[in-house]
Amino acid sequence: MNLQSSRNYDLQAAVLEAEQRFATANAKSRGNYEAACAVMPGGNTRTVLFYAPFPLTIARGEGCYVTDLDGHSYMDFLGEYTAGLYGHSNPVIKKAIVEGLDRGIVLGGQNETEVKLATLVAKRWGMDRLRFTNSGTEGNLLAINAARAYTKRSKIMGFDGGYHGGVLSMRDSGSPTNVPYDIVLAKYNDIPGTKALIEKHAKDLACVILEPMMGGAGCLPADKAFLDMLRAETTKHGMLLVLDEVVTSRLAPGGAQEIYGVKPDLMSFGKYIGGGLSFGGFGGKAEIMDNFDPRRKDAWPHAGTFNQNQLTMSAGYAGLSQVYTPEVCRAFNAKGDQFRARLQAIAKKSGLPIVITGMGSTQTVHFTRLSEVRTPDDAAKGNSLGKDLLQLDMMARGIYMTRRGMINMSLPMGDKEFDAYAKAWEGFLSDRANVLDKI
Ligand SMILES: Cc1ncc(COP(=O)(O)O)c(C=O)c1O
Repeated sequence: MNLQSSRNYDLQAAVLEAEQRFATANAKSRGNYEAACAVMPGGNTRTVLFYAPFPLTIARGEGCYVTDLDGHSYMDFLGEYTAGLYGHSNPVIKKAIVEGLDRGIVLGGQNETEVKLATLVAKRWGMDRLRFTNSGTEGNLLAINAARAYTKRSKIMGFDGGYHGGVLSMRDSGSPTNVPYDIVLAKYNDIPGTKALIEKHAKDLACVILEPMMGGAGCLPADKAFLDMLRAETTKHGMLLVLDEVVTSRLAPGGAQEIYGVKPDLMSFGKYIGGGLSFGGFGGKAEIMDNFDPRRKDAWPHAGTFNQNQLTMSAGYAGLSQVYTPEVCRAFNAKGDQFRARLQAIAKKSGLPIVITGMGSTQTVHFTRLSEVRTPDDAAKGNSLGKDLLQLDMMARGIYMTRRGMINMSLPMGDKEFDAYAKAWEGFLSDRANVLDKI
């Protein structure tokens, strides 16, 4: 046992004890999980939803609360990994879905709502043209393929630790289920190293794709100078800059690109923009996107049975036009910045080794002795047992959250929920100080 692991011994024991407590309290979720294991590998059809000893089965949700199968109610700070921005029962969205149902579920034709949503989304995020898909993953696949077709180059640049969908994990070790792109992997927020790699592969690179704030890697915002460099270098070498705004589009009325003042050639989007239903898309400059125009003889094909299904289109349009207006978006993310500062202040007062990163309404806690966490390498040095314990203990305190330490706000949340989270966070740090200070 090395020094690090022996120091973690008490923390490990605390996690095991918390898992035991969790298992005892959640017999029905365990039963449902065991049934799932008979038909799905590891009882799971979406990797991120698994955590040990077994995930809660969520039976229902209302506002910003969820209830599990055993009848426990939680404040939902998981927020469907940012797709749950509107909460579980926004009346405007519910009404739009019911009206959509009344028009018929699958119409097999162009519908009016897709045009309304496309017009609104294009204007809000500054795209000349866009197309819808069923998921953010598909949006990214199409954006990458468009870049490859447009530039007639095959390689793409991604960033170690980046995530662009289930088949688009950017990591050094590779992923056996990734699409087989020829990926040049660079380091996030590393200006000289990335610039050198772009120059080295300049003739072959179709695009550089990145999240303006890495989500899955730990809510790590890009440095402004890093994005500026990428914009300049991609232009200089005739490759496209693709911003994956699947998560970050919610951070400002015009997304992270508005915050940074960096305009991509193409962007992808998804999550909450579909009002909580399956959704994704991509878009950008007309000179690239118009290659998808089916009136052209040489048009690039892009299909998808449910691309503009009118339930998603209706929910998305209602949400964006009536609920998540630019004013609401600004106020919501300002509240998120305040909330993050409040949680940071509580952590600082505790004296424990903690860094919280993020932007606006989404943030991640890192248990680390580093003074700042700027890159996936920094984040990976954090203590994952601390995150395990945080999630298990917060759930015992009535807070539903991710195991990776990420929390996401939703619109129905108010002072009651922020105060409750802050109190639970303070209680957790105080109760677990003896194991966390050994990290
Ligand atoms: C940054 C980013 N891009 C793309 C995706 C993929 O979106 P979807 O899960 O809708 O395919 C995700 C999902 O978490 C994401 O976080």
